[in-house]
Amino acid sequence: MQVLGIESSCDESGVALFDTERGLLAEALYSQIPIHQVYGGVVPELASRDHVRRLPGLIRQVLHEAGVERPDAVAATAGPGLIGALLVGATLARTLAFGWGVPVIGVHHLEGHLLAPMLEPEPPAFPFVALLVSGGHTMLVQVDGIGRYRILGESVDDAAGEAFDKTAKLLGLGYPGGPAIAALAEQGNPAAYALPRPMLDRPGLDFSFSGLKTAVLHQVKRWEGQGSAVQIADLAASFQAAVIDTLYGKCRRALEQTGLQRLVVAGGVGANRRLRERLRDLPATVYYPRPSFCTDNGAMIALAGALRLQAGESSSPDFPVRARWPL
Ligand code: KG4
Ligand code: ZN
Repeated sequence: MQVLGIESSCDESGVALFDTERGLLAEALYSQIPIHQVYGGVVPELASRDHVRRLPGLIRQVLHEAGVERPDAVAATAGPGLIGALLVGATLARTLAFGWGVPVIGVHHLEGHLLAPMLEPEPPAFPFVALLVSGGHTMLVQVDGIGRYRILGESVDDAAGEAFDKTAKLLGLGYPGGPAIAALAEQGNPAAYALPRPMLDRPGLDFSFSGLKTAVLHQVKRWEGQGSAVQIADLAASFQAAVIDTLYGKCRRALEQTGLQRLVVAGGVGANRRLRERLRDLPATVYYPRPSFCTDNGAMIALAGALRLQAGESSSPDFPVRARWPL
């Protein structure tokens, strides 16, 4: 079965064609980051408009590269995400499916992220623990199979990626904040500032990152706008170390609690090199999607859609999109 996947939940227009026999046949991505960069964050209306502009061309390109005229089904992200942006992808998917006379399926964006490592040559076997760390979500999930997800813990406030983005803003760095902080942290001393390791001293698997962001804010205020380049790099490194310590500690606890020895790391923050180095110390095999499948992409949506369709599911042609949608 050949499934065309469309991702448009935020600021990336992603399209891919996944074949259940042959794997990924083609994929294309257009990142809107330059459009939103000047505003320091994603502007929803601009995101929707740019998806309208980009997606038709990306779809044409992917079908051409894959040598496919009419796929067997179309999958699109149905949520959670920016409602206008989601509507663009979903409407295109419904229209194409109607024109081709094939089934359509609405995919949960986080399911896409959770299953993304299955696009790699050595995919993890079920069950596994997944650490999902993106701009919108931070959660630990026990994945027993397709659609069989048990949430072990999640952030009670900011997501890890959001904390990177907000902290980068406080430090006067660009958007998106994750890569900017990660790059600057390489020149800083991670032990320079004693920042909190939120929720690590408490039992359970929930996360909280807003206090860490506030601790950075207090430090920046102490400089009264006069922070030196060395101080800013040190604070970036100290912040990154605090996030990594927290994620490491909670993953360790989740593996102990479930007795599992496989950890999947998904979502944009999973691209962080220092985090990856640290997670090597865990008593588990750690699986990552390639960096371009850590962040939003069409391939994970095509894959998740294909697996759902193979299990006999499909959506009604007028399936709803949802800004919020629990996993
Ligand atoms: O999964 P994703 O592309 O989009 C969402 O669904 O949210 O994740 C984007 C997030 C942003 O907050 C970005 O700052 C963060 O991932 N990110 C990173 C790195 N690369 C991207 N955070 C830390 N280190 C990185 N290298
Ligand atoms: Zn995402």
